[in-house]
Amino acid sequence: DRYDLLVVGSANADLVVGVERRPAPGETVLGSDLAVHPGGKGGNQAVAAARLGARTALLARVGDDAHGRLLLESQRAAGVDTTGVLVGGAPTGVALITVDPSGDNSIVVSPGANARLAPEDIRAAGALLGAARVVSVQLEIPLETVAEVAGAMSPGTRLVLNPSPPAPLPAHVLAVCDPLVVNEHEARSMLGGAAGATPEEWARALLGLGPRSVVVTLGAAGALVADTRGGDAVRVPSPQVEAVDTTGAGDAFTAALAWRLGRGEGLAEAAAFAVRVGAAAVTRRGAQASFPTAEEVPVGGVPAAGFPGA
Ligand code: RIB
Ligand code: NA
Repeated sequence: DRYDLLVVGSANADLVVGVERRPAPGETVLGSDLAVHPGGKGGNQAVAAARLGARTALLARVGDDAHGRLLLESQRAAGVDTTGVLVGGAPTGVALITVDPSGDNSIVVSPGANARLAPEDIRAAGALLGAARVVSVQLEIPLETVAEVAGAMSPGTRLVLNPSPPAPLPAHVLAVCDPLVVNEHEARSMLGGAAGATPEEWARALLGLGPRSVVVTLGAAGALVADTRGGDAVRVPSPQVEAVDTTGAGDAFTAALAWRLGRGEGLAEAAAFAVRVGAAAVTRRGAQASFPTAEEVPVGGVPAAGFPGA
């Protein structure tokens, strides 16, 4: 395969303001200076994987504007193959992000060009899809486009899907997810009232929806993995770090997981690496700017030398 990982997804300019607390409806609060960072769940995953050393390509759509150029520049600087990034059709997607003192964020995405990444764009990119060991998708692009990707998987290709932001997925899409990667919010949203009380119960219920395997991310508590080949769900602990900005940490986790699965690692083994990548990402500001190189990934609970928190 020419690529370890092909990411099909969104690219957004992240407009980030730090706040002491989020405004209530009708309320105005003052925040920090504005920071503009390259982001988007798809773009983030591609940069995260490439920075770790994966041969990575991105299939996405940006606008013919300054934000689009910022995003392309960030991808190229990380070593991502951007031949699959289409330009034009609408302004580049934007994410309005507030980050509070605990590092937690709230995000509103205006999809812009991401909403114009169409099924025909996927059909036209057949060569790219056929050249990847693992394909990763999220839900900041149209559902029909995600369905087209799922339908284009060849037997030797593995699909990793993060249903973010959550939306109902057709059974034929769920059936090829290996794994479906969710956080608590996404798990509860997919399961509705049937969620159950523990991550183990969520994982079991999610497997009942049809994916071949499930990974539940649990923030500082790490992750939980489960698959249909039997056996119990496995908890994967995370190294404890000082959270500065969690934006994009889930994307870094999923990218690292997808890459390691493509290298033949088991789900628990790949997740054990991925939680360390996600932990590193929360210790720095921004999404893509915070992602570690392979050398910067903390080893067994100890932050890597030279990394914030070390
Ligand atoms: O997952 C984080 C990302 O979500 C941000 O970079 C923002 O662009 C939104 O897509
Ligand atoms: Na971060």
